[in-house]
Amino acid sequence: MVLLDVQGVTMDFGGLVALKDVSFSIEEGEIVGLIGANGAGKSTLFNIITGIQKPTSGRVLLNGLDVIGLRPHDIIKLGLARTFQSVRPFLNYTVEENVRVGMLFGRGENTGERLDYLLRLTDLETKRSLLVKTLPIEQRKMVEVARALASSPRLLLLDEPMVGLNAVEIKKFIELIRKVNKERVTVLVVEHVMKAIMNLSRRVIVLHAGLKLAEGTPEEVIANKNVVSVYLGADFVRS
Ligand SMILES: Nc1ncnc2c1ncn2[C@@H]1O[C@H](COP(=O)(O)OP(=O)(O)O)[C@@H](O)[C@H]1O
Ligand SMILES: [Mg+2]
Repeated sequence: MVLLDVQGVTMDFGGLVALKDVSFSIEEGEIVGLIGANGAGKSTLFNIITGIQKPTSGRVLLNGLDVIGLRPHDIIKLGLARTFQSVRPFLNYTVEENVRVGMLFGRGENTGERLDYLLRLTDLETKRSLLVKTLPIEQRKMVEVARALASSPRLLLLDEPMVGLNAVEIKKFIELIRKVNKERVTVLVVEHVMKAIMNLSRRVIVLHAGLKLAEGTPEEVIANKNVVSVYLGADFVRS
């Protein structure tokens, strides 16, 4: 079943065309990777899917329903959650309060058990009473993930969640995404850590300068000459 269907999305920021007729779809249950150089249009695509920005043209269907024009919190109620590239938890709230906000705006259960479960899942149980501003960036990222999951999404969009994490943290994060995916959450993840993408996704979409450059299995994508020349570079192929 197609969960997300992006059809011919164009985003023109008054002359700077950040997305050009981009189309793709995501099946329920998938983990799909979205890659591309800085400025490719990845975050803009997330903003459009989540209702933060309205595209110049095109449609975005979530479970068959056109979400263009809906407000972000209505889209969350339909089962879509995201994290931001520049993390945005509420800094003057505790970890637990941040996750509670996610539950409040979500579409799932709002119970103490679910709160405890999410804090365990994201390794934040011992930090639950701390103000988020006292935490290092890696843990703030996990707060964002916990808050997004708290809304019980069907589709979770992650915008560069692993930037700045060390190898051990990346490994843990990959396990977390796998676990969440097993619990029926479909995932679209933007990431520059190629190893993580290859490891997680069976399907990868490549954006370049607003165009969909390629789409396929990780093996197909890294064998694609266009992708190598504009994004991965010859060094990647040799390494
Ligand atoms: N609100 C905006 N107004 C004008 N230009 C924007 C805006 N948001 C993004 N852009 C431009 O759109 C392009 C794509 O940006 P972005 O979606 O952030 O790329 P990515 O996430 O792939 O790095 C960039 O050239 C960026 O400068
Ligand atoms: Mg971005």
